[in-house]
Amino acid sequence: MDFDREELVKMAQEAKEKSYSPYSGFRVGAALVCEDGSIYTGCNIENAAYSPCVCAERVAVFKAVSVGNKKIKAIAIASDKDGYISPCGVCRQVLSEFADSQNFTVLMSRSDTDYIEKKLFELLPYTFSKDDIK
Ligand code: THU
Repeated sequence: MDFDREELVKMAQEAKEKSYSPYSGFRVGAALVCEDGSIYTGCNIENAAYSPCVCAERVAVFKAVSVGNKKIKAIAIASDKDGYISPCGVCRQVLSEFADSQNFTVLMSRSDTDYIEKKLFELLPYTFSKDDIK
């Protein structure tokens, strides 16, 4: 099943509005589409103790996985910065756990309609995966 890229980017922008980021002031939103077409959004959620801060991308992935949806297909990411927002290394690793990284699409946006599209393997080559610990 394919998905509407611009719609997913728009949902990530909307999810950003829910960001809880009083410490960094850096709002991030994400919209994740699964193989079955269902969509889960997320925003970054910060904490006074700093280390429990969670990125928007991981919130979206954990929402999907926590209701039993482990087949993820693409994610759109949005922030307020002028340039394109790209996922941090930890989120790339978390995405790789549930994605087919050759085919998983990452949309890094900078506005409702302007985005860069990459496959996950391009952002995280030589991934450490479950195959490595067999
Ligand atoms: N953040 C995300 O939510 N996603 C990213 O891809 C990069 C960083 C959040 C974490 C933290 O709340 C804030 O942005 C500043 O790093």
